[in-house]
Amino acid sequence: MDQYLVYGNPIEQSKSPTIHTSFANECKQSMVYNKKLAEVDNFKKEVMNFIEAGGKGANVTAPFKEQAMSMCDELSEHAKFSGAVNTLTFKNGKIYGDTTDGVGLVRDLLEHDVKLSGSKVLLLGAGGASKGVVLPLLDQNVKKLTIANRTVSKAQDIANQYPQKPISACSFEEANKQGFDIIINATSAGLSGNGLPISESIITPETICYDMTYGKAMTPFLKKATSLKAKQVIDGLGMLVGQAAESFYIWRGVKPSTSKVLKQLRNELAK
Ligand code: ATR
Repeated sequence: MDQYLVYGNPIEQSKSPTIHTSFANECKQSMVYNKKLAEVDNFKKEVMNFIEAGGKGANVTAPFKEQAMSMCDELSEHAKFSGAVNTLTFKNGKIYGDTTDGVGLVRDLLEHDVKLSGSKVLLLGAGGASKGVVLPLLDQNVKKLTIANRTVSKAQDIANQYPQKPISACSFEEANKQGFDIIINATSAGLSGNGLPISESIITPETICYDMTYGKAMTPFLKKATSLKAKQVIDGLGMLVGQAAESFYIWRGVKPSTSKVLKQLRNELAK
C-alpha cells in the first residue's frame, strides 16, 4: 500500500490523517496516511529514511516548510513564489515540492460562492501564511490585492515579487481608509484575543471576511465581522480541507470531494 506522512512539531493536533483517509476511501485509493513528529535538526534525515522505505509523498507543516523547500529537486511556481513547501512528492528518484495552501483557500472561497474575479481583496499579514496565498489569489484575476501588515516593509517585499500584477502594500492605517470586497486575515493574531488594528468602517454589510485560522469558538476577527453585519464570515477549516484535496490530487491524480470530511471535522470541532 502506498505510504504518506505529515511531518510537524507539534503534530498531535493534525487533522490531515483523518482528511486523507477519508479522501482515500471515497476515491478508492490504496494508500495509508499517518502523522509523524520530527525534531527540528532531524527533519531531513527523517524524510530521507521515509523515501528509502518506499514513501510516496508527505505533507509538511510548521516549522518545516522552509527546510522542506531546500530539499526539493524541483519546485512548482507556487512553491517558488511562496518560499515554502507543504507537499512533497517522491518520484523517479527526485523530490518535487509544491504548496497547496493558496489553492486550498481559493477553492474554499469559490465553494462559498465568493466572487474573486474583479474583486478588491485585502490580505492582513505578511508572514508565511500570507506569502503562500498571494499567487493563487492573483491568478483569479482579482481587481486589486492589497497586503496590509504591521511591518509594512514585509508586505512591500511580497508585493515587489509581482511587478506586473495589481498588488500593493500598506499599513493597517492606510488600509483603513480604503474599501474592499473581501478581507482575509492571514496574521498569526488569529486565535489570540488581540484585536487586529482594523477600523470598524472597513467592514460593511457588503464585505466578505475570511479568517485563515479556525477553532471551536469564532475567531476574534470573525466575531468583529459578525457584529458589524458583514455579508459573509468564513473560517479556515475549509481551507485546511482544500489544501489537503490539492495535495491528494498532486499525488493520486484524482480530485476528492471536500464536503463530507468538512462536515465531519465541523461536527468534531463543535464537540
Ligand atoms: P505565519 O507563518 O503564521 O504567517 P509569521 O511568518 O510569524 O507566521 O507571520 C505572522 C504575521 O502575523 C505577520 O504578518 C505579523 O506581523 P509582523 O510582520 O509585523 O510581525 C502578524 N502579526 C502577528 N501578531 C500580530 C498582531 N497582534 N497584530 C497585527 N499583526 C500581527
